[in-house]
Amino acid sequence: MKQYALITGASQGLGKAFAIEIAKKKINTILVSLPNEDLSVFCEEIKEMYGVDSICFETDLSIVENVIDLTEWVNSQFELFILVNNAGIGGSKKITDAKLSYIENILQLNVVATTVLIHQLLPNLLRQPKAHIFNISSLAAFFPIGFKTVYPASKAFLDSFSQGLNQELRRTRVFVSVVNPGPMRTNGELVERTNKGFVGKLLMKDPEKVAKICIKNLFKRKAVIVVNPVSWFLLKFIPPKIKTAIMTNVAQHELT
Ligand SMILES: NC(=O)c1ccc[n+]([C@@H]2O[C@H](COP(=O)([O-])OP(=O)(O)OC[C@H]3O[C@@H](n4cnc5c(N)ncnc54)[C@H](OP(=O)(O)O)[C@@H]3O)[C@@H](O)[C@H]2O)c1
Repeated sequence: MKQYALITGASQGLGKAFAIEIAKKKINTILVSLPNEDLSVFCEEIKEMYGVDSICFETDLSIVENVIDLTEWVNSQFELFILVNNAGIGGSKKITDAKLSYIENILQLNVVATTVLIHQLLPNLLRQPKAHIFNISSLAAFFPIGFKTVYPASKAFLDSFSQGLNQELRRTRVFVSVVNPGPMRTNGELVERTNKGFVGKLLMKDPEKVAKICIKNLFKRKAVIVVNPVSWFLLKFIPPKIKTAIMTNVAQHELT
């Protein structure tokens, strides 16, 4: 039986690093990205370099009908044993400057697409001898942040949803993990934005390193994967008011 791992947001950044790390383990991949991101070229590279099957699917996951189409296609053709919900967006903006489409995009991609993917793909995952769901949250899940507002709230949803689902599925063969990474050197705009703040610079990590730690711990069936123990510990246990004030200040600086 040929089994596959599906990775969203796979054409760049952390998603690309996950795809490589998973293919290195001789696992077949279904890579999902937005259209026109050269995903087919990356798929061919994966096939050639790691000798696994790699299939690409281009779609905009912020549209729920597209998410349903993707899941129907996967369920009709593939045995899925790993689902990596990596696609996610955020940013810093004054709420009064944010267009409704900006807010909708974050919610649709980070919250709705992830939840619908899991809901629709779960029957497939449940029939495998062993399966993993892996959700990418953020350190931002641990505190509200002014000038980011919607993004940390969406990541807090993912953190809570993942841990709740892990409990619900604990007597099944599907294991649910979540990671809360800090800032990573993924795309130029994000690095430039985060590099403006001292906190961002201090916590910045390479996505390849993060992906390596995550995939190792995923197979160890860790429910909460920690990639930066010092910042994770500090941010989880600093009093909420102080964290929110510090990080709101950082986000405000990113605006200028
Ligand atoms: N970078 C960080 O500092 C950081 C920190 C904490 C958490 N995270 C989380 O880690 C994950 C990956 O972040 P990243 O920095 O590597 O990503 P990124 O460079 O900011 O790009 C956004 C990701 O989301 C995907 N995406 C965006 N809009 C989409 C849409 N409408 N439909 C489908 N996919 C869409 C993109 O995939 P394609 O381009 O392949 O289509 C890309 O993988 C995200 O969930 C992010 O929230 C990132």
